[in-house]
Amino acid sequence: MSITIETPRSPRSRKSAKLEKYGWLYMRASGALLLVLIFGHLIANLFVGEGIRAIDFGFVGGKWATPFWRIWDGIMLWLALIHGTNGMRTLVNDYAERPWVRKSLVVTLWAVCGVLILLGTLVITTFDPCPANSLPELLPSFCTNK
Ligand code: HEM
Repeated sequence: MSITIETPRSPRSRKSAKLEKYGWLYMRASGALLLVLIFGHLIANLFVGEGIRAIDFGFVGGKWATPFWRIWDGIMLWLALIHGTNGMRTLVNDYAERPWVRKSLVVTLWAVCGVLILLGTLVITTFDPCPANSLPELLPSFCTNK
């Protein structure tokens, strides 16, 4: 039995075929890394110690007091957002038939991704675990203004 594969609806140039190959590779590589990052994140937040009941501002402040979890969360943020956006781009390319609809959706996807990466990175890099004038009971134990 032979199978005939239909000609793609929108054939691409060699250059964009190469880009698609890197996109395909990125989905696999980031997927493998995200498995480690997401499950590590879930285990640290939900299983270790008191579990979900321990999550509050102090818990996040304590985690982000060292560079380890900031870097972990930063890599997770970038990889997951680019992975999710590139995955949605694939779906849009598969299902949106009109070129202007496809173009507008893809541009919107990357714009939203860019804004979220920017805001998330800003939060991770500028976060202060001991902000002045906050309720002492909300602060992590190591804060001197507690
Ligand atoms: C546990 C970690 C994850 C793994 C192992 C993983 C793996 C993958 C792989 C291998 C693909 C490509 C599928 C294909 O080309 O047929 C994919 C597609 C996709 N992923 Fe993930 N992913 C993970 C997390 C995420 C997260 C956190 C998001 C959202 C932010 C996401 C959103 C998507 C989307 C929208 C697609 C496109 C679906 C499609 O083509 O049908 N994934 N994922």
